[in-house]
Amino acid sequence: MANKQLHIGLFGFGVVGKGLYDVLHTTPTLQATIKKIVIKQADKKRSIANENFSIDADTILNDETINVVVELIDDADAAFDIVKTALQKGKSVVSANKKMIAEHFEELLQLQQENKTALLYEAACCASMPIVRNLEEYYDNDLLKSIRGIINGSTNFILTKIQEEQLDFKAALSLAQQLGFAESNPALDIGGFDAANKLSILLAHSFGVITKPTGFIFNGIEQVSLPDAILAKEKKQKIKLVATAKKLENGKLAAFVLPQFITQCDDLYQVQNEFNALTTESTFADQHFFKGKGAGAFPTASAVLSDISALGYDYKYEYKKIFHQTDTELSNDFYLTVFISTDDLTKIDKANFEWIEESHNEFNRSWLIAVIHAEKLAGTAWWRQEGVSLILCPDAIIETVEYKKISKRSLELAGVV
Ligand SMILES: NC(=O)c1ccc[n+]([C@@H]2O[C@H](COP(=O)([O-])OP(=O)(O)OC[C@H]3O[C@@H](n4cnc5c(N)ncnc54)[C@H](OP(=O)(O)O)[C@@H]3O)[C@@H](O)[C@H]2O)c1
Repeated sequence: MANKQLHIGLFGFGVVGKGLYDVLHTTPTLQATIKKIVIKQADKKRSIANENFSIDADTILNDETINVVVELIDDADAAFDIVKTALQKGKSVVSANKKMIAEHFEELLQLQQENKTALLYEAACCASMPIVRNLEEYYDNDLLKSIRGIINGSTNFILTKIQEEQLDFKAALSLAQQLGFAESNPALDIGGFDAANKLSILLAHSFGVITKPTGFIFNGIEQVSLPDAILAKEKKQKIKLVATAKKLENGKLAAFVLPQFITQCDDLYQVQNEFNALTTESTFADQHFFKGKGAGAFPTASAVLSDISALGYDYKYEYKKIFHQTDTELSNDFYLTVFISTDDLTKIDKANFEWIEESHNEFNRSWLIAVIHAEKLAGTAWWRQEGVSLILCPDAIIETVEYKKISKRSLELAGVV
């Protein structure tokens, strides 16, 4: 199919916007030129001439010669207004704004259909790692059983620096910010919101489930303590923020984002710094493992560039899982094996556990390993308090506890535990 000429209106000239500008100027084969750049602060010093910039969104939105809007700003509400208007005006849009997309997924889907335009957002999920188009296209017929991975570059960077270089949390976060890996509002990263926004988008493209992050359990890494990291190291494990979605035996879908202990035999063990990774498990292909840079100017710009290039041959997401597969429902009807550490045992509501497998006191902290029903995590807040950290054990999901109880009992009888 012939490549059409793309006239771009760019919103944002920060880490990613400037990255895209540089990358486009070293990709002469792509028939795409930036016609105008809209930014927020008129008097900010820029690396290119002032005549390229405007603070008036309409200079792009009302320009009929601009057929592609690339939205790379850090304000999700303003981004939605821009993207909505651009789609209504029949322009194709590329965005990296996961918060905006996760919050308005259904409306954006409708806008694309009504206006027969395309919205592409590969960079919004795992930056340089081409996962959205893969989930959408490759796993069309080979049905997915699970996706699991590290989908936030800055928390992985912070955890790596804490565990490998003994940096404290603040220093690691500040380094992530300096390198352009963190969101402008770092609470989005460390509170788990960014990973949850991405999982929400991935759920639509992998399982056809449309949900906001409030529809599943998620947490970030703020409560992970130094003693937790020391313990992980002693056990030759690492702690990572992991997003999981898994088809349960009852046909429903378990989904959550939580910190997890990662053993050496897990593919995620070697995923360090700002890298992201995702393992897919499907009926026929079995496992695939994707890895790539999940943050930073050029890696993110490369995904934006790939979307721009795809628009050149009129590519759009068909949302096949949403429109052509049977409805999949999210469910919290499963159990998780969790590690909990605390500076004060009275903060822990032990009545929530099915059973406790181990409990200890070490490093002036109490910690225990227990099995809990996911609905009890979704419906309570005690485990989110300051001074309490909850980290998933490896292989944390248990579908039915009866099996586990029997197997534990038989091990006890055999004198193994
Ligand atoms: N950084 C990464 O590694 C990365 C990775 C994946 C996805 N993303 C996503 O990419 C987007 C941009 O991130 P970034 O790191 O490039 O942010 P950034 O460095 O903070 O830059 C933000 C840019 O947006 C502009 N802006 C803010 N509000 C605006 C408005 N209302 N109208 C026009 N321009 C506006 C700012 O203008 P001024 O220059 O005038 O302040 C600035 O140029 C975000 O959605 C982010 O989640 C980032």
